[in-house]
Amino acid sequence: MRRACITGGAGFIGSNLADRLVADGVEVVVVDDFRTGRRAFLDQLAGNALFRLVEGDVLDEAVLKDAFGGCDWVFHLQANADVRHGLEHPLLDLEQNTVATARVLDAARRSGVKNVLFSSTGSVYGEPEVFPTPENAPFPLQTSLYGASKLAGEGLISAFSIGFSLTAVVCRFVSILGERYTHGHVIDFFRALRTDPTEITVLGDGRQEKSYLYVQDCVEAMLTAAAHHEDRGGTHVYNLGTDETIVVDDSLALICATLGCSPKVRHTGGTRGWTGDSPLIRLDTSKIRALGWSPQLSIAEAVRRTVEWLGDNEAIWQAPAGGAP
Ligand SMILES: NC(=O)c1ccc[n+]([C@@H]2O[C@H](COP(=O)([O-])OP(=O)(O)OC[C@H]3O[C@@H](n4cnc5c(N)ncnc54)[C@H](O)[C@@H]3O)[C@@H](O)[C@H]2O)c1
Repeated sequence: MRRACITGGAGFIGSNLADRLVADGVEVVVVDDFRTGRRAFLDQLAGNALFRLVEGDVLDEAVLKDAFGGCDWVFHLQANADVRHGLEHPLLDLEQNTVATARVLDAARRSGVKNVLFSSTGSVYGEPEVFPTPENAPFPLQTSLYGASKLAGEGLISAFSIGFSLTAVVCRFVSILGERYTHGHVIDFFRALRTDPTEITVLGDGRQEKSYLYVQDCVEAMLTAAAHHEDRGGTHVYNLGTDETIVVDDSLALICATLGCSPKVRHTGGTRGWTGDSPLIRLDTSKIRALGWSPQLSIAEAVRRTVEWLGDNEAIWQAPAGGAP
């Protein structure tokens, strides 16, 4: 890998990937319009000869042409990454996750990019019947617009791969935690407890069982899969997660322990926190492990680091996305 473009490279995962690639001596081009990403996440790369920012919308062909020239990899991390609020704007996931992916793939082939990695999600499994869920599990119904839009993106990737000889790596992440975390249940609980440490509301019955992965483990896993398949053709799908799970109430208890509070907990009830919430997520990660990767951090440690990072970065979690910092 000589030069890589990261779409959504100012976001939580993309900016961690950008740091790692630059540290490895790879030229990195970030495309981002900062709608949820943060300028502060790229500050450390400003002025580095290996780094270039192309500020703009991935739906803009000229932006992608500028960014993709000379790249041997595109890491397509741009998306509307919000799962929970999909029903409030039903066409957003289609536009930002499916149409945007088609635009990225078309621009990649026009620019002669040979390898693409797509950040998909465990949400594509909907509510699977097989646990731990392997990559080839039967697909039941889609339960969220986000998952459906990402699955459509996966379909486009495999079709572009076959049609235009692209090498495609599809990574289905569980929820990611760690430094620069800006969305998800940990920040929701963190914000609520900073406002009122005496009581908190949990969506659902608190028994939803989830799996999480530390962001540096996620970055390492993406790069492991990328290195394994580079220039070798085909579409290769990997679950990225840990073998552990944690229920929401236990995750809340860890957050409270780190913050030093013991609120009264109220549950809204029901086995799902919202329409499309999955009561159980546990992915089979033996395929990525077979490439020699394994996670370095437990879920508990990842939650603790996330809470500590949020505590040390008030300016980030208090500021609206897109603006300063
Ligand atoms: N964070 C997770 O737990 C998780 C889990 C599964 C999958 N994913 C996927 O991983 C990828 C990265 O997620 P993240 O958590 O870093 O999200 P994020 O919101 O922090 O990052 C997305 C980035 O894309 C940028 N962006 C969005 N739309 C854009 C557009 N039209 N043009 C230009 N830039 C645009 C945003 O400004 C942001 O910097 C996403 O594809 C997401 O769906 C994330």
